[in-house]
Amino acid sequence: MSDSFHRMWADLAPVGRHPDSGGYRRYAWTGADTDCRAWFRAQAEARGLDCETDRNGNQWAWLGDRTAGDAVVTGSHLDSVPDGGAFDGPLGVVSSFAALDELRRRGARFTRPLAVANFGDEEGARFGLACVGSRLAAGQLTREAAFALRDADGVSLPQAMEAAGHDPEAIGPDPERLAGIGAFVELHVEQGRALDLTGDAVGVASAIWPHGRWRFDFRGEANHAGTTRLADRRDPMLTYAETVLAARREAELAGAVATFGKVAVEPNGVNAIPSLVRGWLDSRAPDQAALDTVLAAVERAARERAERDGTDVAVVRESFTPVVEFEHALRDEIGRILGGSVPVLGTGAGHDAGILSASVPTAMLFVRNPTGVSHSPAEYAAEDDCVAGVRALADVLEGLACG
Ligand code: GLV
Ligand code: MN
Ligand code: MN
Repeated sequence: MSDSFHRMWADLAPVGRHPDSGGYRRYAWTGADTDCRAWFRAQAEARGLDCETDRNGNQWAWLGDRTAGDAVVTGSHLDSVPDGGAFDGPLGVVSSFAALDELRRRGARFTRPLAVANFGDEEGARFGLACVGSRLAAGQLTREAAFALRDADGVSLPQAMEAAGHDPEAIGPDPERLAGIGAFVELHVEQGRALDLTGDAVGVASAIWPHGRWRFDFRGEANHAGTTRLADRRDPMLTYAETVLAARREAELAGAVATFGKVAVEPNGVNAIPSLVRGWLDSRAPDQAALDTVLAAVERAARERAERDGTDVAVVRESFTPVVEFEHALRDEIGRILGGSVPVLGTGAGHDAGILSASVPTAMLFVRNPTGVSHSPAEYAAEDDCVAGVRALADVLEGLACG
């Protein structure tokens, strides 16, 4: 089992890795993404699986009759955040193929169709919205909203899809496809240290925190950095700075998290007071009320500071995912298959499994991350734990899909 895992891991490792940072830049519908998709197709073909790309650009590798219904689907995503790690996404896809290899080695007899999936644009690194492929399929993103998405260079999602050889006119809800899935199980590297603390290689997900992305536009007046008296300035950077600190403060008070991880400045000159600072806030909390409290307080702090600075603030919610509680029946069944003692943990990270859970019985397996670091080139899982993850996924798929 570990042989097939290692071969795939080594094969995929160089794709989209930046030589300087060592991080991955596998953004949706770019050359690196095309290479990842080609890798996926090659893995499917090498196993005699029927590979298709759906109307929304998600890839599926089928074993058995995909029209039969009640399919068991596993998989994850291959795209990355800017300078992401090797594991977030790819661990789930590579482990899915490796689990299938393991089941074949065991001589398993499949009684339900099985598919490995690679969901498109999970991270939203290029167009700003996460889980575009699964959201479109599940009808949680309208065609109009998808067509309006633009990257930092002004390229629209449909233009990018078309340039990569995918027909954007086809995108839209895919209810029939989702109705044919009886269970979706996504394996993912853990993005915290819960399993490290319990001493387990593998865990099962309970819930995903509600989370969203908000764009804050702080507008002021461009002016000379050397000649403009401090009292005469309308500097949106000050408003932005105070808002970042407020986000941290309010998240701490509410038991939530809040991050300004992306910022754009105009005109972006060392010797010019900015006219615009655009900051993106990512905030997540254990429940909706806490998240609402954080957002209201951050927005209030931004407006109060803007009064002092003579600036303007506009806030746009760019995406939102409500709390996800994974299906108890499937989770319990997986617990039984894995022997009952597997830890059950919640997460603040978003996943395609969370999006699909509104339409399909869905579960997640997590593989221990000894440092908890994720969305960074330092993201890591030990080889033995990856192999334990493959074994657990194979056990789960055998329990669900084999007679
Ligand atoms: C995806 O990894 C997210 O949680 O933002
Ligand atoms: Mn991620
Ligand atoms: Mn992920």
